[in-house]
Amino acid sequence: MDGVTAPNVVAAVSESRLWDRLMAMARIGGFATPEGDQGVNRPCLSALDREARRLLIGWAEAAGASVSVDPAANLFLRWEGADPSLAPVLTGSHMDSQPQGGRFDGIYGVLAGLEVIEALAASGARPHRPVEVVAWTNEEGGRFAPGCTGSMSFTGFKPMSAFDGIVDADGVRYADALAQHLAEEADLARRPLGYVPHAFIEAHIEQGPRLEAEGQDVAVVTGIQGSRWFTVTVEGRTDHAGTAPLSLRKDAVQDALRAITALNVLMHDPSDVLRFTVGSVTVEPGTSNSVARRVVFTIDLRHPDEGVLRPRGDAIPGVVQAALRTCTARVHERFTAWPADFGPTVPEAVARAAAALGLKAIRLPSGAFHDAQFLAPVCPTGMIFIPCRNGVSHHPGEYAEPAQCANGARVLTEAIIKLAGRP
Ligand code: GLV
Ligand code: MN
Ligand code: MN
Repeated sequence: MDGVTAPNVVAAVSESRLWDRLMAMARIGGFATPEGDQGVNRPCLSALDREARRLLIGWAEAAGASVSVDPAANLFLRWEGADPSLAPVLTGSHMDSQPQGGRFDGIYGVLAGLEVIEALAASGARPHRPVEVVAWTNEEGGRFAPGCTGSMSFTGFKPMSAFDGIVDADGVRYADALAQHLAEEADLARRPLGYVPHAFIEAHIEQGPRLEAEGQDVAVVTGIQGSRWFTVTVEGRTDHAGTAPLSLRKDAVQDALRAITALNVLMHDPSDVLRFTVGSVTVEPGTSNSVARRVVFTIDLRHPDEGVLRPRGDAIPGVVQAALRTCTARVHERFTAWPADFGPTVPEAVARAAAALGLKAIRLPSGAFHDAQFLAPVCPTGMIFIPCRNGVSHHPGEYAEPAQCANGARVLTEAIIKLAGRP
């Protein structure tokens, strides 16, 4: 470990402890598929989320970290610095999952952060700055869409109240779920919302195939492509499927199909960089023998270049309107994350940490969004990716090997010690 800033601290990162904790967390909301995969369904602000957080809190307190929660239910584990008045180096990710998610997306970054605290505690190291590990609320947007509401609230990208009226599939309001959650964590110390960290660094599985395919240990993440989420509501009129002549119908399914077809033309990209997904379509009343009264479909549009993302997204309402024959439509943009460029500070710290540890690293942008996207405008920010099998994620087959998880935690530890400084 030539060139490692604090070899004793990095050596205290434990592959088996990190792996055992990942597997313990995977049991909370865990399920098996008929194909033999082990998935996780842990919605944010649910009883399962709280159970996972309690497990995390127990480990953190045993390691000597102090625990607190902010009004957005972002959970913080703090390892005090030699100078507690300095802005902390912040690391972490999220603990919620997709409804049919895997065992690593999100929780890996939180447990890798805790492993940094464990390593500091085991070696008795006290960096100059405090180190804080955060579990952001609702990154995935699986229960309450959009995601990243915790980090958006923390950074002031949007006021917390902007998310109050979001409802889950059962009609539960985000504000009510948040209030119930905070009531059930009333024993935890409270902290105000937001501060400007010295730096933010998030460890995560790659969610793509490159690291594995190229035999690399980690990626130095250079930035995150932009995302825009829209909801399109097509309103028609329900009718009898056997009696109403086609010429007299206002069939919302037919007009939704025309709109999606026109959007596919708008989004055509011969370079295959643009990502356009219609991932959810709901039809009312949704029976075989009724003409559809309403169709609601979602759009997830992504591109690394704001110069493409902005005009293509802005064109969506006009293209939808022009495609309709008999119905009306409303287009609502519900999530906007512009492309983030992480700049030099944190990526250089990650690159130097990987090199000091003798690990192979490449530079990569992220196709998935992350809470780091909302920290980037506020403080020096970066991410570390570890490989994941076949690049699979948002799927129960998501997998990273114990040694790969430990490598990422060691790079995170080394980079954080560098960023936090020695007393
Ligand atoms: C985050 O999970 C994303 O959809 O990119
Ligand atoms: Mn994630
Ligand atoms: Mn995810």
